[in-house]
Parts: sequence; C-alpha cells; structure tokens
Amino acid sequence: MEHTYVMVKPDGVQRGIIGEVISRIEKRGLKIIAMKMHQIDEETAREHYKEHSDKPFFEPLVEYITSSPSVSMIVEGKDAIKILRSMNGATNPVEAHPGTIRGDFAIETGRNIVHASDSEETAEKEIALHFNDSEYTRYSRIDEVCLYE
Ligand code: RTP
Ligand code: MG
Repeated sequence: MEHTYVMVKPDGVQRGIIGEVISRIEKRGLKIIAMKMHQIDEETAREHYKEHSDKPFFEPLVEYITSSPSVSMIVEGKDAIKILRSMNGATNPVEAHPGTIRGDFAIETGRNIVHASDSEETAEKEIALHFNDSEYTRYSRIDEVCLYE
C-alpha cells in the first residue's frame, strides 16, 4: 500500500481545522498510521521546502511553517498520494475547487492549510524527515474489506 505525508499547517491548527482534515481522510477510507502535533524547527522547514529555496516566497514560507504547531500524519492507502493531492486542491485556494480542503477553507496561497507529498519519492523523503520508525503503526482497518476489490 502507498504511503503519503500529510501536514495540517500552522494556519489550519490555529483555525481549528485539524478535525475537519482528519475526518475527510478517514471518511475517504484512507488509514492514518502515524500522527503527531509538533512545532517544525527552522532546519526541518528548510529541508522540507528546499525545492523552493530560490523562490521569493521561501523565507516567508519557512517563517509561516515554523510559526506555531503543525499536525503531521502518515496516511496509507491505494493511490494515497494522488488522492490526498486532489483532496487538498490547487495550491492557490482561489483556483481550488469547492469540495477540496483549500477550496472550502482557504483564501491565499501562503495560508493554504494543508500539505501532502507530490510523488512517491517525495513521500519517502518527507516521512523520513518528520517521523522516526518507532512513531508509526501497522494495523488493519475493519472497513478495508469493503473499500478494496
Ligand atoms: P505544499 O508543498 O505545501 O503541499 O503545496 P503545493 O505542493 O500545492 O505547492 P508548492 O508549489 O509545493 O508550494 C509550497 C507552498 O509554498 C507556499 N507558496 N507560496 N506566495 C506564493 O507565491 C507561494 N507559492 C507557494 C504555499 O504555502 C505552498 O503550499
Ligand atoms: Mg509542494
């Protein structure tokens, strides 16, 4: 099964949207196998977003993502990476469709509530960056027999 890294960013935590994000993931049938609240430190933030290090929004992005606690999750399921990206919606909430997390709850790109890994390679790196092996679990969910053919 595929794994992806999902974060409720500081604005999502501050605005009380943690439960909404978790609820959508659960209802979709995806399985949360690790979860924690933590304030991301500057070094980790720079590593997480290093693909954007030469962009003008990089410094404000690091400042925002380290500004207060985030909630990090590892989510498991068939096609979990693609599904979470489509659940989050477009990076710019103005372009995010209603029904997506960003399309329902956000206004600006720099405050877009959630993050999810964009490829298998990124998911592997982000999971290793934010979690230790001991922090994730393995279990079956009873609804898996209904979710998968
Ligand atoms: P994320 O990595 O956070 O899941 O978002 P994403 O893949 O949809 O978008 P990405 O291009 O990777 O951008 C990373 C985050 O940087 C902030 N951003 N600000 N002000 C700007 O023009 C701008 N562009 C990007 C957003 O917080 C975006 O989610
Ligand atoms: Mg990204």
